[in-house]
Formats: sequence, structure tokens, C-alpha cells
Amino acid sequence: MSRQLFVTTALPYANGNFHIGHIMEYIQADTWVRHQRMQGSTVHFVCADDAHGAPIMIAAEKAGKTPQQFVADIAAGRKPYLDGFHISFDNWHSTDGPENHELAQDIYRALRANGLISTRTIEQFYDPQKAMFLPDRFIKGECPKCGTQDQYGDNCESCGAVYSPTDLKNPYSALSGATPELRKSEHYFFKLSDPRCVAFLEGWTADGNHLQTEVYNKIKEWLVPKEDGQRDLGDWDISRDAPYFGIEIPDAPGKYFYVWLDAPIGYLASLKNLFTKNHGATEGAKAFDSFLADPATEQVHFIGKDIITFHTLFWPAMLHFSGRKTPNVVHVHGFLTINSGEKMSKSRGTGLDPLKYLALGMNPEWLRYYLATKLNARNEDVEFSPEDFMARVNSDLVGKFINIASRAAGFIAKRFDGKLGGTSAHGAGVLDILRQQRDSIRDAFEAREFARALRETMLLADRVNEYVDQNKPWELAKQAGMDAHLQDVCTVCIEAFRLLTIYLKPVLPALAQQVESFLKIEPLRWSDADQSLGAGHVIGNYQHLMQRVDAKQLEALFEPPADATPAPAGNAAAAPPAEVPPGAAPGGEAIAATIGIDDFAKIDLRIARIVHCEAVPGSTKLLRLTLDVGEDHANGSPKTRNVFSGIASSYQPQDLIGKYTVLVANLAPRKMKFGVSEGMVLAASHGDEKANPGIYVLEPSPGAQPGMRVK
Ligand code: 2FM
Ligand code: ZN
Repeated sequence: MSRQLFVTTALPYANGNFHIGHIMEYIQADTWVRHQRMQGSTVHFVCADDAHGAPIMIAAEKAGKTPQQFVADIAAGRKPYLDGFHISFDNWHSTDGPENHELAQDIYRALRANGLISTRTIEQFYDPQKAMFLPDRFIKGECPKCGTQDQYGDNCESCGAVYSPTDLKNPYSALSGATPELRKSEHYFFKLSDPRCVAFLEGWTADGNHLQTEVYNKIKEWLVPKEDGQRDLGDWDISRDAPYFGIEIPDAPGKYFYVWLDAPIGYLASLKNLFTKNHGATEGAKAFDSFLADPATEQVHFIGKDIITFHTLFWPAMLHFSGRKTPNVVHVHGFLTINSGEKMSKSRGTGLDPLKYLALGMNPEWLRYYLATKLNARNEDVEFSPEDFMARVNSDLVGKFINIASRAAGFIAKRFDGKLGGTSAHGAGVLDILRQQRDSIRDAFEAREFARALRETMLLADRVNEYVDQNKPWELAKQAGMDAHLQDVCTVCIEAFRLLTIYLKPVLPALAQQVESFLKIEPLRWSDADQSLGAGHVIGNYQHLMQRVDAKQLEALFEPPADATPAPAGNAAAAPPAEVPPGAAPGGEAIAATIGIDDFAKIDLRIARIVHCEAVPGSTKLLRLTLDVGEDHANGSPKTRNVFSGIASSYQPQDLIGKYTVLVANLAPRKMKFGVSEGMVLAASHGDEKANPGIYVLEPSPGAQPGMRVK
């Protein structure tokens, strides 16, 4: 049955490049979309940059650009990622496009006409120097509970307390440092507490088709009245005051939609933009309206677990009460983790940089395949394990699947001019087993149970390999009079390889294309599994289809960048850079947020003598330093420390031996690939090291002795 689908992934904020989490989501959605296309369904698969909001406006200002230019520059960098990992979006747009302005205002007007918009005056912190209201994340101060300084406006990273910005002691603006003032302003609200909204959402979320069970169980809590009769689902503040990079609220001068109001509308805007590209403005707009209004259209959103409430409460309500179709499915995935559950972190060298992956010549389909072996229909985190990655790709994908073709194709080419033969009864039996699994594998893809689809496919590959081992074409080739049998066996292998390629094509689109040209056939559809190539079909010359993963590639992939400051163990997130006015960036970066002397005192800096220094085999960036920090001198056996430092680009090891420097002596030891690093040597470099290379190790004035404290 041919279906019509409208599929999206979450719209990424236009203030940075993609990270591996984005790529995982795109691969998941793309695999599902390709599966649908192979079934003959019509799919419109779209995404866009999420352009609006205060953080992007501020980042643009810092970069000395208009927000529009800033966002356009980010958008210009998207292509290498999307092409690189074979992500087949039909359109990439921006939430700042004209379609989104119009759609967001239309939806708002419809909600207002429905009596679901209210206004209320609220008090908020205002930065008198920047002349703007401050979003929570740009207000800092002392935690009201434990007194830790420089905590954000909504929670304390030290004691975990949750509060509102007005509770902070000695608050200051992270933008200007000014003391914020409380000011009143009128805000616009979407009345989600209206009984009509509550009733609609109770029904929509409970309908077993839209949400995964675990997502429903989490989200329904919002709708249950608490002891005081109130629900967590309150009216939603959808306005922000100028200056704001966003969409103007109709009939409300100086007021803009909060970014999360217009972001999901960007799904519709990107679709409309696609229709107008394909059909022109007038026809396109009509086609868009009728496509979306068509009850047969299925709207499917892929999102991460951090943005569930926006997509399963606010978004369906916005659509429903503006007279539009609501999503058919909101599919939620977990996060990608590494090292048994750690979130990926660049500074700890555990990040998987997608462009670095490609630049190392690693095959994008290895990653697509590996992620698919881990993805299922549940909202669960996905663990990336380098060892497992290598095993899955090398043993299963290459060892079991690719090998089938390489074991048979040579004989067909050399001995039979590329011509396939018939298939013996035993061989036909194997092919039948493969065909019998067709619907089950299709259903697994449909249900987003990719891991199951691949497990079933690899079991079939095992069957084919057993068949090859039983029939030993390499021995048949040596025996006189066995030509026909040899041709049969190799034909079964090629037919089987074609069937397995069909089953893997949603995951491995580029490989499938290579197979199609090797077999000299049209692009494979799912229904082609019914047929055979047949006796007499001539295939092309086999060229090796896929390399194995080399362990060195994985090592290089996870080697931390030279300028990465090792984070102390247990400190997951590096503090975000301070927000400063543009231009104030000596040495290429802004001066960090103010700290008190107590904070500085926590860092124990010591004079160290470089006893020895050597290159680190396998690393172009690191040098290994042996340091005397004055420890255990008294008992006659001075202890030394082993420290890795990313300074190899600027120093020859022998030039450093005997010199003195400064060490962060109380940094938690950090386990690296090459050993444990017991501290960090201080060195200066420009904020933009690429444009201004050079690393300068700090040296004390003569006379300083190992172990002396620097303060
Ligand atoms: O969390 C985010 O990255 C948002 N930019 C996602 C928006 S999804 C949709 F609503 F636009
Ligand atoms: Zn605290």
C-alpha cells in the first residue's frame, strides 16, 4: 500500500555545527524514510535551521554579524555532514524564512480567535546596560541555598538547588556584568490550562499510536491534577520583548514569539518551501494546504528525549486548536553515550566528531550500520563502543555479508563470462528461506526496530555462508565436469547477495547503489525480493565493495584535539564561555567570568623542573614530560610526575629538558590512551590557534625551585 508521509527531524539551533547526536538522529530518520521509499510510499523528508532566540542574537552580535548573516553562515556548513552520511532530506530551510513568519502568525491568530491567548504582566530581570530583558541563562549570581558564586539563573551546579533567577543573591548580567533590575512587562500566554486543551491532550497522548509507552507514561504526569488541584501543565509564556531575533506577534508592537513557539512551525514552513520550489508559489501553496489537510497524510517527527514536552503537549495543542492536523507519530530516541553511559565530551577526548570521522576516510556506512544495530523503537540511550563498532562492521557487515559476493563473483566472471546459471533445488531452498523473512524484516524497519531487522538479516547471511561452506565453490572449480554445478552454486550466492542487499538498503544506500551497478540492475525496491535475476542474466565485474575498519582509524578518531584541556575526572561539563560585549577578546577570546580569590586558591600551581621529555609514539600532538615538583625530596627518593601536554607542534622534546615551568598540581589524574597524566603544564596560545599557531610554555624567573607554590 502506497502511503504519503511527512517526516521531520528536530530543527538544530543555528549557532553551531552538527555534533554526533544530530547525525545519529538524522541517520535514524533517514533509514526509516528510505525504508518507506522502498515500499513505494511518497515521503517528504524535511528539516531546517532553528534560527531564532536570544542566544543566537547574542552570538551573532559577538561575532559582529547580523543574526541573518550569522545563521546563513552556519547553514552554509551543513552540506558536508548531510551528504557525507547520506542523509536524504528533500529540503533544508530556516525558521526565519517568510513561510514561517506567515504560518506562525496565522496559527497565533487562529489560537487567539479560539480564545486561547491571554496576557499578563510579569516581572523579569532587565539589563539596564544592554537595554534588554535577560533570559534565565544570562543571569548569574550566588546560589540562594549554598552560596556558590557564578551560578545560572535556574539551578545551582554545585548543590543542585532549583530556583528562579529572582532568588539569586547578588545577581549580575552575564552579558554586561551590570546588576539587573526587576521590570514589569506584558507577556502573551497560550492557555494550555484551558479545559479544552487539557481534554484534547488527555485524549491525544493516550491514543496508543502517537507515542511510545514510556514517553506517554512520562508525559501524562503533566496532565494529572496535584493535591492543590493544579496541573504541571500551566499556561505557556509565548512572548519575548524586543530586542529579540524572532517573529513579531501580530497587533503587539515590540513583542516577539518565543523561539519554541515558531520552531516546530518551521517543520510546516520547510514543507511549504519544498512545495513552492517544486510547484511555484501559487500552486505550491495550494498543494501544501491540501497535502496537510489530507487525512491520508501521515506526519512523523523524530526527536530526542530532551524536547518531549514541546512536541507531545505544546505542539499538538497548537496544531489542533488552530484547526490543523496533529502529528501521527512523535518518535523519541535517547542520547548517544560512550564509555558505558558517559555523555560524549570533546574535552575528554570522548567526542566523535562527524567531520573528523569522514576526513579520516572512515566509511559513513560503517557508522550507519553500527548505529542501526543498536537502535530500537524505545527511548533508550545508545552506547557507542569502539571495540563493538569494529566487531560489528568487520565480522558481520564485511565478514558475513560482503564476503558472499566476493566468494562467488570471480568464478562467474572468469568461468562463465559473467552469466548466471540456474539454481539447484538445494540452492533454491536457501533462497526461499531468505524470501520468507522478507515481511518480518520489513515490519521491523516499519516499527523502527532496526536492530532486529539487522539481526534477522545477518542470520540469513549466516545461512548463505553455510551453503557456501557446504558446496565449496573453490573445490568445484578444480574438479573436471563440475562446471554446471559451480555455476549453480555461485548463482545462488549472487541471488542471495541481491536479496540481502535489498534488506540492508535502507541502512546502506551507497553500498546498494554499488551493488546495483555491479549486478547491472535497476535501483532495488522491496518488492524486487519476489523476483530473481534469472539464468542468463549477465553481471558486471566484481570490485571490492567495502574495506574493514582499521583500529588505527578509531584511535585517531578519539585522540583528543591538541588544545583540549583535560577535564578533571568527574567533572562532566566544561563551563560555557562568559558572555562579553563584542570586541573585548584579547588573545582571541573573551576574558572569563569574574571569580573570587577563593576560587583561585583552589588551584594549586607549583614550579616544576622538566626532568625528561619525549615524543609519544602514535600521537602527533602530545609530548610526555617527567616533572620534579619537589615531592618526597626529604626522604631521599624524589618522586616525579608523568604529564602529557599538547605542545608537540611547538617544541622539540630535547629543548625542554632541564627547563622549569608551572604545573597545575592538584588536577585529578586523567587516564589517557598513552597512560595517566598527573597534572597540567601551563602554556599560552591564541584563542584561534589555527589562524595564529604557536604554543608557549610558561617559565618562571631564575631562582624559582621545584615545589614552590605560584600564587
Ligand atoms: O533542542 C533543539 O535543538 C531545538 N532547536 C529543537 C527544535 S525542534 C523543532 F521544534 F523545531
Ligand atoms: Zn547551591
